[in-house]
Formats: sequence, C-alpha cells, structure tokens
Amino acid sequence: MSYPDYNSCLKSLTDEGVNTKVINHVKAVHQFAVIIGNKFVEQGHMVNMPLIEAGALLHDIGRSNTHGLAHALAGCEIAERLGLPDDLISIIRNHIGAGITKEEAVNNGLPSEDYIPLTLEEKIVAAADNLAAGDILQTIAQHEESLLKKGITEGAKRCVALHKELSEMCGIDLDILLAGNKKSPGKTKSC
Ligand SMILES: [Fe+2]
Repeated sequence: MSYPDYNSCLKSLTDEGVNTKVINHVKAVHQFAVIIGNKFVEQGHMVNMPLIEAGALLHDIGRSNTHGLAHALAGCEIAERLGLPDDLISIIRNHIGAGITKEEAVNNGLPSEDYIPLTLEEKIVAAADNLAAGDILQTIAQHEESLLKKGITEGAKRCVALHKELSEMCGIDLDILLAGNKKSPGKTKSC
C-alpha cells in the first residue's frame, strides 16, 4: 500500500482550500505523531510510519468544508474522491478527540455509528492531535481542562485514557516524550 508523501499531502490540503492556520496545525500534529511513532518502533511495536505521516497531515482536510464535528466525515468524502487507501480514510474518520461513540454521534447530528480510533496508527494520530493546540504543544492536562470547560466530560476522559494507554506502550509519558523532542513548528522535516 502506498501513501501520499509530505509534499503531496500539503498539495492536497492547498488544492482543497484548507486555510494556513489548519495547515500549520497539521504540520505540528505530523511532527508530534512522527516522534510518538518512532518511539513505538524503538519499543519494538509494528507501526506503519508512512500511514501515520499521511494521516497526521490529512486528518483535518475536511476543515476545507466545515470546522464542526462533521469535518471528519467531510474529510472522508474528500479522501475517497482522491482515491486514498481505506486505512488512511479511517484515520481521518476516527481522529476527533479519542473518538466519538454512536450515541454522541447521533446527538451531534452525525450518522449513527461509532467513530473510535482502533488501530495503533489511528490512536497515534488522535493522541498527537490532542496535544496540538493549533501548532503549539500542550499537555494532556491542558487539553483535558479545555474539554471540561466546554462540558465535554466523557470525551475528556477518553482523551486522558488514550494518552495513558499510548504512554504505557511507549514506556514514557507522551507529554515528556514530546517536550524533550519537539522542534519549532514549521521546521518539520519532509518525509
Ligand atoms: Fe487536528
């Protein structure tokens, strides 16, 4: 399976009309996801790095249409039109927070289905996204606090649980891992 490389992903984002702020955000998510993915590899886990990289860059492509929760589904439609692989489309579909349950989906006007990250690649992109406030690294506690302020209680719990799950698998808290490795946003190396 082949996945679009860094420059192809950026071209798709630009072609679809994704704004600069979102592009800077996905570059930061890409940077964080690569650090987390590389740590998983170092720990002996099987992860598909080209899939993680493309997923991190394209997860918000649907924001060219809407910034609401439906941006995940809008992104899937774009990715399908672009002929992208199913596992990449699943990252776009399941990236919001640490996923959305069927019940929450219905309450938010989405089709009645679960949108929960299941594969390691889906989880890594979702967790990296949670740690990017725009293009700035934040801690999971800061993310949790911002969700709780919006009344997203169950979503906040799931984000913390996902962060813990991946941190345990990595052997290091993701907050510490990223704080120790992060370069300035915008200086992400091309893949
Ligand atoms: Fe995002």
